[in-house]
Amino acid sequence: MMKIFLIGFMGTGKTHWGRLLSRKMGLPFFDLDEQIVNSAGKSINEIFAEKGEEQFRLLEKETLHIIAESHESFIMACGGGTPCFFNNIVYMKEMGTVVWINTSAQTIFERLLKEKDHRPLLRDLSDDQLKNFIAKKIADRRIYYQQAQVTIEEESIDIDKFVDTLFHA
Ligand code: S3P
Repeated sequence: MMKIFLIGFMGTGKTHWGRLLSRKMGLPFFDLDEQIVNSAGKSINEIFAEKGEEQFRLLEKETLHIIAESHESFIMACGGGTPCFFNNIVYMKEMGTVVWINTSAQTIFERLLKEKDHRPLLRDLSDDQLKNFIAKKIADRRIYYQQAQVTIEEESIDIDKFVDTLFHA
C-alpha cells in the first residue's frame, strides 16, 4: 500500500512530477483538480464563479476522501489549497505520505504569469498584484505545507532519487 499526496503552491509542478512518478513507480496517478472537474462536469473557474470557494473546498475534500479510500496505492497531485482547509493535511498524513514540492516564489511567479487566466484566484490580478498575492499566500500556507513528511526542493529534483526517497519514506 502506497498513498502519496503531492502538495505545494500553484505552479510547483505537482501534476508534472506526479505523472512522472506514477510512470516510474508503476502506480496510478490522480490529479485532484481534474477529478473534481470530472465529477462536477464544470471547470474549476466555473465552480468558483457559480458556487464560490467554500463549495469548491467541500467538493475538494469529498473527492480527496473518495480517491484515498477507494484505491490501495496511488500518486495524487493535490490542489495548492488542499492541505490548508478542514483537516485535510492531518487526514492525508494518516492515510499515507505527504510530499511538499517546494519552489521559489520567483519561479512560481514566472510560471503563473503565463497561465493566470485559467486560475480563479489569480485571473483578476495585475502582474504586481500577482507577485504580492504569491508572497502573501505562500507565507500563510507554509504552516500547512511544512507538515508534510517529505520536502523536496523542485529546482534540484533528481527523479530517480525522488523515487528512492518515496520507496523508503
Ligand atoms: C488552488 C489551486 C488550484 C485549484 C484551485 C485553487 C489554490 O490547483 O485547486 O484553483 O487554492 O491554490 P493547482 O495548485 O493544481 O493549480
